[in-house]
Amino acid sequence: MSLYNIISTKQFLDKDLLKEVFSHAREMEEGEREGKRKNSLEGKILATLFYEPSTRTRFSFEAAIHRLGGEVITTESASHFSSVAKGEMLRDTIKVVSSYVDGIVLRHHEEGSAQRATQFSSVPIINGGDGTGEHPTQALLDLYTIKKELGEVKGMNIALIGDLLYGRTIHSLIYLLSLYNKGIKLYLVSPPQLRLPRKYKQHLKKHEVEFEEVVKLEKIIRDVDMLYVTRIQKERFPSQKEYNKLKGSYTIDKQTLDRLSSESIIMHPLPRISEISFEVDKDPRASYFRQAENGLYIRMALLDLIYNA
Ligand code: NCD
Repeated sequence: MSLYNIISTKQFLDKDLLKEVFSHAREMEEGEREGKRKNSLEGKILATLFYEPSTRTRFSFEAAIHRLGGEVITTESASHFSSVAKGEMLRDTIKVVSSYVDGIVLRHHEEGSAQRATQFSSVPIINGGDGTGEHPTQALLDLYTIKKELGEVKGMNIALIGDLLYGRTIHSLIYLLSLYNKGIKLYLVSPPQLRLPRKYKQHLKKHEVEFEEVVKLEKIIRDVDMLYVTRIQKERFPSQKEYNKLKGSYTIDKQTLDRLSSESIIMHPLPRISEISFEVDKDPRASYFRQAENGLYIRMALLDLIYNA
């Protein structure tokens, strides 16, 4: 398998490829547990070039690079602390940074920026989130988590909840879930203003995935095997006023847990604001912290595949 840039989960719509990524991630996980590390990134330097805030994505990538024996240079607020603040264009930044390193993990506020960066880069570009576009490595770790926790994706009723309009993790996950077409049912739970954009719904239709748009979570809560909860993306709203109208649209709390099947799981890409109350954390169905940990293994696997497959 050859993996170079990672821009969209559309690149992963192949069950054999996914199998390879996931079995590789499992090997990484076992290797870490048993203290047997592969130094497969030795001699490589990667850059994490982030124009938007991040905790999990940047740290798990950096930890993955270190754990594989590579090195990393980083900027967390590229828009303030790099030459972008002086007016430099992304294309020049990418041209120059790619001449220093062996790969770039890019997070940027514009949809399409990662794809654009590939035109100016001499090294692999990994999309760490492009505005309201996609977040492919997150969706890969999400699917890895679903398989690990539920065993199967087929036959599941899945609720994607919150900001389906601006949430890039949702967009990337939609593509991946379309692989299980006739086997799953998706509930798209959001306020009417934050519905999933048309292009993703068209993709679902094309792949014959059954889906239903729902406003009230209560309506479907008893029927679902998995809740994928997301934050209302405050920074993407045209105004604070618009955000205020919709913030707090959904809250998963003790009451929700009582109505949810005992076999189900609750996921969230994090960070959470108020959409899952802290009392939910100790419930065994809360899988979001295990999900975040899986990010490390998936990113180790992806890096190893890019540089060594
Ligand atoms: C997500 C993101 O940045 O898109 N966070 C993450 O990478 N885990 C989700 C979010 O910010 O709400």
